Amino acid sequence: MGATVIVGAQWGDEGKGKVVDIYSQGAQQVVRYAGGANAGHTLVVDGEKVVFHLIPSGALHRDVDCVLAQGTVIDPAVLVREIGELDKRGLFDPKRFTIADRAHLVLPQHRVVDELRDKQRGALGTTKRGIGPAYEDKVGRVGVRVGDLLSTKKLEDKLTANLERWAPMIAALGGTMPSVSETRDSYLKLAERLRPLISDAAARVSASLRAGHDVLMEGAQGALLDIDSGTYPFVTSSSTIAGGACTGAGIGPTDISNVIGISKVYATRVGNGPFPTELFGTEGDALREAGGEFGATTGRPRRCGWLDLPALRYAVRINGLTGLALTKIDVLTGMSSIKLCTGYELNGERYDTIPYDDLDHVKPIYEEVPGWNEPIGHCRTMADLPKNARAYIERIEREADCPAWLVSVGADREQTIVLRHPFGR
Ligand code: GDP
Ligand code: IMO
Ligand code: MG
Repeated sequence: MGATVIVGAQWGDEGKGKVVDIYSQGAQQVVRYAGGANAGHTLVVDGEKVVFHLIPSGALHRDVDCVLAQGTVIDPAVLVREIGELDKRGLFDPKRFTIADRAHLVLPQHRVVDELRDKQRGALGTTKRGIGPAYEDKVGRVGVRVGDLLSTKKLEDKLTANLERWAPMIAALGGTMPSVSETRDSYLKLAERLRPLISDAAARVSASLRAGHDVLMEGAQGALLDIDSGTYPFVTSSSTIAGGACTGAGIGPTDISNVIGISKVYATRVGNGPFPTELFGTEGDALREAGGEFGATTGRPRRCGWLDLPALRYAVRINGLTGLALTKIDVLTGMSSIKLCTGYELNGERYDTIPYDDLDHVKPIYEEVPGWNEPIGHCRTMADLPKNARAYIERIEREADCPAWLVSVGADREQTIVLRHPFGR
C-alpha cells in the first residue's frame, strides 16, 4: 500500500533501472517523476540490454501502468523513439501509458543552448539534452507544456514566442537558431503520436493510490545532483530526491510509505564537479573497466572511486531512506582489499557529512577492509556470498544506519538478492 520511491543515493547511474524493473514485478504502476532524457536507465533481461531515457523502467512488465509525470521535461522525439522500440517488442499499449499535460517540453533551442554553454570555461559537463534551459523556462514561467501539443494554434504561438526569447542568447553564444517552421512541423508530427497519451497524470496516480495499488516512483539522477541538496552548481536542474516525488508526481508526502536509495558499493560520477574519493590513473581505469563504467546516455567514461560514506549518510538523511539497494558488488571481486571513506578532513577538522562549499578541498579518511576472490554473480542469498563480501555489506548498513533491502551481484535481472520487497512479496 502507498507509494515506494526509488532514488539514486550518489551521483546517478547507481542501477535505478535494474532495481525499478525488479520491484515493479507485480506492481500496478511506475511513475517517472523528474529529469528528462539526461537519464539512461539500463535493464538486462535474459542477457538482452534495454536502455530507457524517459519511459519508466517498469515498462517491460506488460501489466504495469507507466506514467511520465509533471516534474519531468520531455523531448518528444526521444519519447516517440522509445515508444517505437517498445511497440516493436509488442509491449506498447496506449492504455497503459500516460504523459502529464503539465510536464514541460524540451525544445530544439534548449538543446542548442545547452551544447553551446557546455563549450565555455567552467562548464558543468552536462548531457547536452537541453535539460537546464528547459527547466529555466519552466521556473521562468515561459515554458511550453505537453498539454500545448493538444492545440495546433496554441503550440505554434508558444513555440514561436519561445524561440524568439532564446534568439539573443543563441546569437551571443555564436550559435545557429533552429528554424521556426521546421520546429513547428516536427513537433506537430510528434504531437500526433503522443496526443492519445496526454492527460492529467497526477489524477491517474492518485486514483491508483486510492485504489490501494502498489505504486513505484522512479527517480532519475542522484541525491548529489539534486538542485537544492547536491554539489551546486555541479548538479542537474531538478529535484532528484524523494521530496521531488511529491511535487513531481503531484502526490502528498502522506502517500509515501517507503523510500529506497540505490548505491553502488563504490562511487562514480559523470561530468564535472567535486568527487572526493575519485581514483586516477591505473586504479581508476581498472575500476572503470571492471564495472563497465561508461555513460548509458552519452557514452562518456565515468569517473570512478571508493565508496564515500559521508555522502551516503547525507543521502540517507535528505531522502529519509527506509532501505538501501546496494549494487555492483561483483565488480569488487578480486581486490585484495577495499577502501572505504569514513569521513573527511578539512583544515584539521573531521566531517561526517557534506560541507556547504569545500567538497573540492576535503581529504578523504580511508579505512581498508579485506576483499574476496570468488566470483559472486550466481549468488542468490546472503549466505551464498563470501564472508568478506557479507561483512562489507553489513559495514555499509551500519555506517549508513539503513538496512539493505536488495543486493545486486550482476547486471541481469536474475543476478539479485532480494532481502525485502516494498510490497511484501
Ligand atoms: P541508472 O541510471 O541508475 O539506471 O544506472 P545505469 O543504467 O546508467 O548504469 C548502471 C550500469 O550498471 C548498467 O550498465 C547496468 O546494467 C549495470 N548494473 C546494474 N547493477 C549491476 C550489478 O550489480 N553488477 C554489474 N556488474 N552491473 C550492474
Ligand atoms: P541517471 O538517471 C549520471 C549529470 C551530468 C552533469 C550534470 C548536469 O542515468 O542516473 P544535465 O544534462 O542534467 O544538465 O547535466 O548531471 N547527469 C547525470 N549523471 N546519471 C544521470 O542520470 C545524469 N543526469 C545528469 O553528467 O554532470
Ligand atoms: Mg544512468
